[in-house]
Amino acid sequence: MPSSQTWICILFMIILSAVGSELDYDGWLRLRLWHAMNKDPMPNFIERGNITVTSVRSSASAVAQMGLQPNDIKALQKLAKDDKEYRLKASVRGSSGLETTFLTSVPACLLLGAELEDFLTIWLDGAAEPVAVSLSSYGPCSREAPPTHMWTTGIQVRYPEAGPVPDTATFIQKLEREKEARERGDTKDNRSFLAKYWMYIVPAVIFVLLSSATNPEAGGGGGGGGGAQR
Ligand SMILES: *[C@@H]1O[C@H](CO)[C@@H](O)[C@H](O)[C@H]1NC(C)=O
Ligand SMILES: *[C@@H]1O[C@H](CO)[C@@H](O)[C@H](O)[C@H]1NC(C)=O
Repeated sequence: MPSSQTWICILFMIILSAVGSELDYDGWLRLRLWHAMNKDPMPNFIERGNITVTSVRSSASAVAQMGLQPNDIKALQKLAKDDKEYRLKASVRGSSGLETTFLTSVPACLLLGAELEDFLTIWLDGAAEPVAVSLSSYGPCSREAPPTHMWTTGIQVRYPEAGPVPDTATFIQKLEREKEARERGDTKDNRSFLAKYWMYIVPAVIFVLLSSATNPEAGGGGGGGGGAQR
C-alpha cells in the first residue's frame, strides 16, 4: 500500500500541474478605441468606441461602438481609392490598472469589402499584461460604399498557452502593481485575496504539509520522490 507520503507527493504534483494550466489568466480588460480616416502621416484620431473583455480566457466581451457617419464612409472610400491604411489606436487597461496604448492599421479597401467586419486580437504576456493589439479584416478589397454603417467586430485574446509557469519575480511585481492600483482605487477587481490567489496558496500549504509529514525514520527507504512504493 502506498504510504501517506506518496499520496501527498501525488496530490502535490496534481496541484502543481493545475497551477501550470490555470495561472491567473482570467482577468478582464478594458479597451478604448480611436480611429483615423485621414491619410496624412499624422493621424487625426476620433473616438470609435469601447470594448470590455469580461473573461480573458474565453474572450467574452461587450462591444460598444459608434456607427460610421456618411462622411466617415466617404473618407474610408477615399482611403481605399488611394490604397491607404485605416488606422486604429487602442488603449488597453487590465486588472493591474496600467494603461497601454497600441497602434494598428488595416488597408481601408479590405474593411469596405468585408462590410465593416473586422477582428481585434489582443496579445498578453505571461503576467497577463497586454503586449500587442492588432486589427485585421479579410476583405475582399473593395472601393464601394458598404451596405451598413455599423462595425461587426470580433474580439480574440491570445496568451502564451504552454508558456513558462510564472516565476516568482513576475508574480510579485504583478501583486505590487495590483496593490498600487487598489490603493489608487481604479480597479474593479474586488475578489477576495483567497479567491484570487488560491492557486498560489494551496501548493504552499501542501508543501508545508508534505514537509511536516516527512517522517525522519522513513527517510532511509524512500529517497523523497514520487516513486516511494511498498
Ligand atoms: C467609452 O468610455 C468613455 C469613458 O470610460 C466614455 O466617456 C465614452 O462615452 C464611452 N464611449 C462609448 C461609445 O460608449
Ligand atoms: C464587486 O463589485 C461589484 C460592483 O462594483 C459587485 O456587483 C460584485 O458583486 C462585487 N463582487 C464581490 C466578490 O464582492
